[in-house]
Amino acid sequence: MANFIPEDKIEEIKNAADIVEVVSEYVLLKKAGRNYSGLCPFHSEKTPSFTVSSEKQIFHCFGCNTGGNVFSFLMKQDGLSFPESARFLAGRYGVDLPVGEMSAKMRQQVSEREQLIKINHQAMDFFHGNLLSGRHGEKALAYLERRGISRTVVDTFKLGFAPRAWDGLFNSLGRKHVPVGMIEKAGLLVARKDNSGFYDRFRDRIIFPILNMSMQTVGFGGRVMDDSLPKYLNSPETPVYNKRRLLYGLHAAKKKCRKEGTIYVVEGYFDQISLYQRGIENAAATLGTALSSEHIHLMKGFVKRAVLIFDSDEAGIKASERSVGMFVREGIEARVVMLPKGHDPDSYVSEFGAEAFYKMAENALEVMSFLMKTAEKKHGLSVNGKLGILADLRRALASIEDMSARQLYIKELSELLGIDERTVLEKVRETKATLEKENQISARRNERLQLAAGSERSRKAKSLNKGVENRLERQVVAMMLQYPEILPEVDASCVLDHFLDSTLQFIGKLVLSHPPGTKEGVSNLMSMVDDTEKRNILASLSIKEEMWNIRDCRKIISKLIGHSPKRQEIFLKEQIRAAERDNNQDLALKLLDELQKSTVLNRKQMREVLREH
Ligand code: GTP
Ligand code: MN
Repeated sequence: MANFIPEDKIEEIKNAADIVEVVSEYVLLKKAGRNYSGLCPFHSEKTPSFTVSSEKQIFHCFGCNTGGNVFSFLMKQDGLSFPESARFLAGRYGVDLPVGEMSAKMRQQVSEREQLIKINHQAMDFFHGNLLSGRHGEKALAYLERRGISRTVVDTFKLGFAPRAWDGLFNSLGRKHVPVGMIEKAGLLVARKDNSGFYDRFRDRIIFPILNMSMQTVGFGGRVMDDSLPKYLNSPETPVYNKRRLLYGLHAAKKKCRKEGTIYVVEGYFDQISLYQRGIENAAATLGTALSSEHIHLMKGFVKRAVLIFDSDEAGIKASERSVGMFVREGIEARVVMLPKGHDPDSYVSEFGAEAFYKMAENALEVMSFLMKTAEKKHGLSVNGKLGILADLRRALASIEDMSARQLYIKELSELLGIDERTVLEKVRETKATLEKENQISARRNERLQLAAGSERSRKAKSLNKGVENRLERQVVAMMLQYPEILPEVDASCVLDHFLDSTLQFIGKLVLSHPPGTKEGVSNLMSMVDDTEKRNILASLSIKEEMWNIRDCRKIISKLIGHSPKRQEIFLKEQIRAAERDNNQDLALKLLDELQKSTVLNRKQMREVLREH
């Protein structure tokens, strides 16, 4: 863990931050008993299994088993490093962190992500400064003005201008001693073909910095100011820029999205900015890519409804077909607006104003109805036309996993077509079977790839599910976490030494050495664990509220220690193996003897044990 923030500061942040507050920024939480629950942001679900404990300052999802404290939440949600999440929280909760130039050693420790974000931030400042006071800034400002963009919005979104020179940004960052390799990695420089050096990627363009939900600058878009091509240039994929997981302007739109429960999804930078400027602040733009399930995950924490706005039938239909299943899966209502020919959201709202825009959005069709209507327009209602409509819609229908939702749409379609519901259903089933086969094939391929890579993770997941074998061990750790009164007895009985699951044993020992009796104790423990799997287990075992009493606890301990011959046997075999590894023949023999006495092994089995070693 590249942790160069002083320990006492981490402590201060931990005390100041409130996990319920932080998670609420991303997930709609409802009070449920002593905890809060909501839809998990880390996997698809429609019934809440994501749980946050204010008391313990941890979260856990019973669906996908992810868990942790406020730091790990941000790390996972926004892909931050630990220091980044600490910084973010420090900023938010007013904890002062030492700033200033980093020492060489510190710089080494800073994660790559942080360096890239810092470089992007410097680049954003450079472009923005250039727009406002650079030599050719007026030209760019005039362009923005011509397009009706106000100065306020220029400042809000930190719009910028990249000078025409081949080395404008390069020189500016160079003066700050930023390593060239890192600037290239940030996607801001391009290597010359003849390997003689680098040049600026963005030249003579209006610059749109792209921020993620943690307000970090992760990439850029750049537009020419004339008709030259390409019209837009975007950052390439980098360790911090993934267009499938980013929506332009969402960081600024979030507040209003939450207030209205609606998000307008548009396609262009200018569309987003132009809507924002007219008070339609709850809009965000895809970055030249199709709407992905990650995008929907991003928005689902604070909207109930998405209105997709398209300027051409073709794009709208394609996007709607692809996304209908994803929206149903996430329980977000999706509607589609098709703008009048020749308009995009920017031109529409500039010409007709916000009121007209809202009115149009209100009348937007629900995605499936939109698809039916466009198919009807395209094919007509002749016999052939109806077959065409069915053919166009069955894939979208088949992608809806929710049975009742699918059934309702099928009913609607069969009414439109005047065909028996069962016939439509049959068609959809056929398509679904084909889709499933395709999915299976790709899933199997992935599995094979994983197997080939000897995936550590899947191996670990298996060992976790050993079930009965480690159920007792899980119970012991759970009671240690939830019923600290038992800790002295756990210690005295050495029950942890009998654990077979090394992960659970590790956690148990950690709990023993850092009793989580105090408030937020579990959250503190989590900060000591680097390993995600261990953190997940820790969260899962401490968040369930079970009723413990001393008698049951003792029963579990003694059950685990001695009264299971099977366990005893496995345990002794482990010990023997260890003794042999250490070349401690005396101990090995002694243990073998014990094994023979304590178990019901017959001679043949005994010989097998001996042969194994
Ligand atoms: P304006 O013409 O400035 O109003 O642009 P726009 O915002 O209306 O964009 P347009 O509808 O032409 O394109 C929508 C989005 O697609 C843009 O915001 C870009 O993200 C992306 N895009 C458009 N043209 C290009 C291009 O030539 N190259 C790349 N990489 N992306 C583009
Ligand atoms: Mn436009």
